[in-house]
Amino acid sequence: LSSVNRLADAFRAARRDERLAVLEGFHALKHALRFGAEPIVAVGTDPGELERLATELAPDLSGRFAAFVERVDAATFAQLAPHPPRTRVVAIARRPPVDLSFLLHRRSSNPVVLLENPRDLANVGACVRVAAAAGAAGLVTTGTSDPWHPDAVRGAAGLQYALPVARIGTLPESRRPLIAVDPDGDEELELPPGAILAFGSERRGLSDELVQRADARLAIPMRPGVSSLNLATAVAAVLYSSRMARRSAS
Ligand SMILES: C[S@@+](CC[C@H](N)C(=O)[O-])C[C@H]1O[C@@H](n2cnc3c(N)ncnc32)[C@H](O)[C@@H]1O
Repeated sequence: LSSVNRLADAFRAARRDERLAVLEGFHALKHALRFGAEPIVAVGTDPGELERLATELAPDLSGRFAAFVERVDAATFAQLAPHPPRTRVVAIARRPPVDLSFLLHRRSSNPVVLLENPRDLANVGACVRVAAAAGAAGLVTTGTSDPWHPDAVRGAAGLQYALPVARIGTLPESRRPLIAVDPDGDEELELPPGAILAFGSERRGLSDELVQRADARLAIPMRPGVSSLNLATAVAAVLYSSRMARRSAS
């Protein structure tokens, strides 16, 4: 019983600890491992089943799950997450350090995604996931939502480990151009390389302050009558249209 309590306490504390990430489910753990996470603890009800999943879906990680996932019974597992994942594995790992000044001041051609005051953690996770897939240089957020919150990690399938992801107070001055992505912007705007692409919150959109500070405003064309796209959909549309435009130009 005491080891059950210790595990439950460790996962409860990790959910509130900004130095740690809680990885829930096979896909989150798979991506985290693939991009360098080193779990402090990992437990599951059936490490053999995780190995079978790895053989099928992540052969590059074959053998890793059996090596460190500790077996626990179903009753213990149920106490480790508010919504225990279907694939019956949870883990705790350190978050990697993020060099913000390197990310914001280096003029690389890959864009940085800025989410201003996002509210919905599943949406934040979906933004991290598409930013990782599209090869963004990093993703930063302002406001109170933690992009490493376990629900955001679940929404991103653990891809916070694939690129720098951090919450910042306010956006510091940067050598990268700042583009406000805003339904009232310019549909014809050609994106400069290496921009900070700022997206607004789900309900209110971008703040006036950010729009005024921006070097330019970009709108995603929409059929008349549609008010706006979902935040993560807007991030996907902008990242992929610019990535595909670069590819067809080269
Ligand atoms: C759900 S929308 C916010 C809607 C908010 N009522 C507004 O008018 O901006 C969340 C964010 O997605 C981006 N977005 C959604 N649709 C867009 C569009 N058609 N053009 C540019 N940005 C868009 C913007 O950054 C926006 O702040």
